[in-house]
Amino acid sequence: VKTTVSVIKADVGSFPGHSRTHPKLLEMAARRLKEAEGSILIDSYVTHCGDDLELIMTHTKGEDNEEIHKLAWDIFMECAGLAKEMKLYGAGQDLLGDAFSGNVKGMGPGVAEMEFEERGSDPVLVFMADKTEPGAWNYFLYKIFADPFSTSGLVIDPSLHEGFTFEVHDVIEKRKILFNTPEESYSLLAYIGAPSRYVIKYVWKRDGTIGASTSTQRLNLMAGRYVGKDDPVMIIRAQSGFPAVGEVIDPFRTPILVAGWMRGSHHGPFMPVGVCDANCTQFDGPPRVICLGFQVCNGKLIGPADMFDDPAFNRVRDQCCELSSVLRAHGPFEPHRLSLEEMEYTTLPGVEKQFKDRWEDLPE
Ligand code: 13P
Ligand code: 13P
Ligand code: MG
Ligand code: MG
Ligand code: MG
Ligand code: MG
Repeated sequence: VKTTVSVIKADVGSFPGHSRTHPKLLEMAARRLKEAEGSILIDSYVTHCGDDLELIMTHTKGEDNEEIHKLAWDIFMECAGLAKEMKLYGAGQDLLGDAFSGNVKGMGPGVAEMEFEERGSDPVLVFMADKTEPGAWNYFLYKIFADPFSTSGLVIDPSLHEGFTFEVHDVIEKRKILFNTPEESYSLLAYIGAPSRYVIKYVWKRDGTIGASTSTQRLNLMAGRYVGKDDPVMIIRAQSGFPAVGEVIDPFRTPILVAGWMRGSHHGPFMPVGVCDANCTQFDGPPRVICLGFQVCNGKLIGPADMFDDPAFNRVRDQCCELSSVLRAHGPFEPHRLSLEEMEYTTLPGVEKQFKDRWEDLPE
């Protein structure tokens, strides 16, 4: 039987403000998943990145399974109930609907799933981010699976040498396209370099074996109003035909700028942190990413290992603080503030509306 890893997440309320998930919510979610182990689930692990509650689940039911999605939805609803009782901030924030209809996709929660035949040993890395959007993974997925200056295995390991296939989603036009690397890497970059619109959904080996899966849900597009950022998740398999664990996490040493941060409206540096530091503070950020490493063994999650809780990532964290100062100095100016096109999905249009009658046409 194949094993499925499902990572389903939502912000159902946090404290104080948008900074972190309350331990009582984590306990409630962990207890509910434990109860499902042995029936629906094989194993589970609950954590948080900032204000996002992360459910990591293993089972044999495949992707998009109704029972698994309903379990996650019910847990989010219960946790949102507790968040409301405690008057936590943004209780139920990401739960856009109130009736479950077969799948959490389109209802607010973010979902990354992959089904695979377990290898003799199967290292799996789960990445979880707060205060940013799904396209934030694009840069890293390219570095990991397509950049030979980053992943040396692409050059020196015969099992990686033929390259990978990337599935890219256009989240505006709702369409998808496949690119093979290395031969189409420039074409791939032409799209994924615009991460607010083009998002890598899957990466496969050329024989179709799954290597990476991400959440691509864009909350504000689904809701048609501002509901914060999507705060995406990603699953990556490592070693034996895939990049090594170290090749997967090494690109996070580069402090790239991503969209999100305060009010989902600013560019900021993407800071890799240990789970103990996965709390958004300064200007509701900076945007953060955690990585938990597991060995998947007959569906059991051996782990986790907190991959960025490591002095090897101290320097990038310092660089993120430096970049944060430079960007913050811009105040309300671009490019700290997102472009006008992106600001359409924030609270700015509400301000512009107040002045729509005060504008006068200029003479020709
Ligand atoms: P080990 O000899 O420690 O298993 O390392 C092999 C390897 O591929 C490291 O990337
Ligand atoms: P979240 O998407 O993490 O809730 O962020 C919302 C926000 O406005 C932060 O300032
Ligand atoms: Mg929030
Ligand atoms: Mg367990
Ligand atoms: Mg969040
Ligand atoms: Mg959010």
